[in-house]
Amino acid sequence: MYKFPKKFLWGGATSANQSEGAWNVNGKGVSTPDMVTAGTKEKPRRFYKELKPEEYYPSHDAIDMYNRYFEDIELFAEMGFKSYRMSIAWTRIFPKGFETTPNQEGLDFYREIFKSLKRKKIEPIVTLSHYEMPYELALLGNGWQDRRCIDCFERYAKVVMEEFSDLVTYWMTFNEINCLANVFGGYLAGGILPPDGPEMQITENHERKNARFNGLHNQFVASARAVINGKKINPNFQIGCMISALCSYPYTCNPEDMIKNQQTFQINNWLCGDVQIRGHYPHFAKRYFKENDISIHWTQKDLKEISEGTVDYLAFSYYMSNCISSDETVGKSLGNIMTGIPNPYVKQSAWGWPVDARGLRYYMNEAYGRYEIPMFIVENGIGAKDKLESDKTIHDPYRIDYLKEHLLQVYEAIEDGIPVIGYTMWGCIDLIWNGNTFFDKNYKVL
Ligand code: BG6
Repeated sequence: MYKFPKKFLWGGATSANQSEGAWNVNGKGVSTPDMVTAGTKEKPRRFYKELKPEEYYPSHDAIDMYNRYFEDIELFAEMGFKSYRMSIAWTRIFPKGFETTPNQEGLDFYREIFKSLKRKKIEPIVTLSHYEMPYELALLGNGWQDRRCIDCFERYAKVVMEEFSDLVTYWMTFNEINCLANVFGGYLAGGILPPDGPEMQITENHERKNARFNGLHNQFVASARAVINGKKINPNFQIGCMISALCSYPYTCNPEDMIKNQQTFQINNWLCGDVQIRGHYPHFAKRYFKENDISIHWTQKDLKEISEGTVDYLAFSYYMSNCISSDETVGKSLGNIMTGIPNPYVKQSAWGWPVDARGLRYYMNEAYGRYEIPMFIVENGIGAKDKLESDKTIHDPYRIDYLKEHLLQVYEAIEDGIPVIGYTMWGCIDLIWNGNTFFDKNYKVL
């Protein structure tokens, strides 16, 4: 019998843009994902600056959670959820992002949800920005690279934290913030506009890279301000950063592979963790920025705020691990925001993602050893080709196995001595695909 801590926050996770739908009702503005068309495993999603009536935009209706939230919460309660991770759509509160008066209907909507969760004794875990920002704000200065986003986010965060200070304790600032350190993160995580059309996820040049890292810096400052203000609003708030655990191993013990993997791990994981948890840029950042000709427009005030606005816990998503090789001829595997070389010791899901439960324990030990703050697994799960039976059920022993294997490793991590706040499974309800996979021009995974 495996014993987990008594107050462990078991539950599930979703995001506003992948579940709510109702994209333009009751004062909601257009958010960046509302401009992205549907895609498939073979065909990437597309972005056009103007909406095209002939295209299908999944976030517009999503799974209609906006209208069905209460039924869904009933089901979560039936399943024994102790917590539910969700995000607030920034555009329901500030439709364009730069207004100064919030949209009351948006605030009322989330208040009802939080109240209903509380009635069911389900703790809300709230992400302030889950891969979305107001599209109008993104157009203003090309996404997060524009410093005006910092003030707009600060205002938004302050309004919702004040409004829900009696109902929400656990907050996270930006979902998978480290995605912006990666090429596919430009629009997804930073609202930096891609060119019109199918190349959405493959465009990268020096200018975009510079924009991404400046956008990331601006998010660091915005996140720090949210923490500083949040603690003034309610000192009991627990505010976390949220990082995608991009767990990688060296492909061989060749020292070249070891170094390559170490550098990859640093940029993929530690850069954001170090800034948001330790309160300063890590030692390797300077060289990385220099060698990539990246110049960050930071100020002394930014660095001070970053040092003061450190987070209480490290929340992260974990789906897979990969290998890194210094040999560019070795092939890569499929993933969501993570691609790499398949590990011969790790199996793959039917969808082609590596399934490595032990990587979860490995990552947790690495991260806890570095930061020594509580950890929260806020996303973990498996996508599969599920078969809907005639009685509308799905038999998915592969998903049960996946969860069992991963939870066993969470248990091991706790036994290793790591304080873990909880575990919220991703895809606790069917929702829309984020479509992060990174393709080349022939739609081959890079
Ligand atoms: C994470 C995101 O990257 O992975 C979620 O935070 C996302 O928004 C999840 O949905 C699964 O990835 P995908 O590509 O299958 O949607």
